[in-house]
Amino acid sequence: MGEGVLVVGAGAREHALVWALARSPEVDRVVATPGNAGMAGLAECVDLADDDAVVAYAAAEQLWVVVGPEAPLARGLADRLAAAGVRVVGPSRAAARIESSKADAKRVMRAAGIPTAEAVVVHGWREAEAALDRFPAGVVVKADGLAAGKGVTVCEDRTEAAAALRALLVDDALGPAGRTVVLEERLAGEEMSVMVVTDGTRFAYLPPARDYKRLGTGDVGPNTGGMGAVAPHPAWTPALADEVAARIIDPVLTQLRREGRPFRGVLYAGLMLTAEGPKVLEFNARFGDPEATVMLPLLEDDLFPWLVAAGGGPWPARAPRWTGAAVGVVLAAPGYPGRVATGIPITVEPGEGAVVFHAATVRDGAGRLVNGGGRSLVAVGLGSDPETARKRAYAQVERIRFEGAQWRRDIGETSRPGR
Ligand code: AMP
Ligand code: GLY
Repeated sequence: MGEGVLVVGAGAREHALVWALARSPEVDRVVATPGNAGMAGLAECVDLADDDAVVAYAAAEQLWVVVGPEAPLARGLADRLAAAGVRVVGPSRAAARIESSKADAKRVMRAAGIPTAEAVVVHGWREAEAALDRFPAGVVVKADGLAAGKGVTVCEDRTEAAAALRALLVDDALGPAGRTVVLEERLAGEEMSVMVVTDGTRFAYLPPARDYKRLGTGDVGPNTGGMGAVAPHPAWTPALADEVAARIIDPVLTQLRREGRPFRGVLYAGLMLTAEGPKVLEFNARFGDPEATVMLPLLEDDLFPWLVAAGGGPWPARAPRWTGAAVGVVLAAPGYPGRVATGIPITVEPGEGAVVFHAATVRDGAGRLVNGGGRSLVAVGLGSDPETARKRAYAQVERIRFEGAQWRRDIGETSRPGR
């Protein structure tokens, strides 16, 4: 008899996880909570009202639990599941602080000697304004806490930095998440999202990806949760893998073990490939979104044994292998990343060599597919090479009707972004 898995979340990342798990020969039941309308046929979607209900349901149904988003991890859902004897993939609340507090992540990196941007942590407006003098070459203002990808401002000048600080520290725009602020040196280079599966000591790489954080084509406009992704990252090499392992992944895992909070699950390192080598921009305690939508379809090996390994099970003998290329284009509702309208009808006609992952889509009273949030779909093109994947992704976008949708035209283009 196969295993049953409950995926927690409603996004494209969770849709991609459900899609990968549904293909596993070891899994015969996939459930998602709350899931989304795109998962029909792959997973049962159940509406579990809160963490208590998730724990009770998973225990009663004897399911593995894979926690997709950061918020439940930061609340301690993995600890609660483990305490109830449920097998869970996702770090403890203490380990997830590496994502839920950017100040904590900076302290860990400093303690472990991990390359990262120079930074100071500030709490008040005056202290923050004075600290700006220390970053003459450009500064990035980061809310300490979780902000769904919207807590970071990469500043063009001091005026913009002061405005970003004022919003967080004077106007309280993000509430408690923004009352502690990390100010850091602005780094230049190409970004890379590296994810590993880990049991706290051992780790294995998953396909490295490139995320596109800015809203607009040409890498302009505000930062978002991610407007597209490609995998594998064109700059990934065996030598870089060794360097990232030795300078970043091993040290952070060792440091967290030393601090009595081993990290088990999927650890995401957001890197900037600078002239001085890779430096860490952030750690996340989970799969990236949209990165998961381009990484998971490339795996040649079953994902499930790796999730089991991260959840305390046996460690597979051979590292995961991947092949081909994937390009994912996010379609976001009008207004994103600000206020968005929901309930906009969506139709998707499947295209060749493509998969469409949904995020927070629902069926309305009339049974129509409608959006339920900002980022609503990811059109993923697959191919043996990046250019084929890119063409298929955009051909798929053309087969989607979603009034007023915003998407970038340059995902997967080979020219390097300006920053
Ligand atoms: P984070 O959530 O910390 O990864 O920041 C979100 C995005 O802001 C990153 O993916 C980068 O595009 C940008 N960013 C963050 N930190 C820096 C930095 N020190 N220098 C330049 N860009 C940055
Ligand atoms: N795409 C960035 C993230 O998942 O945090």
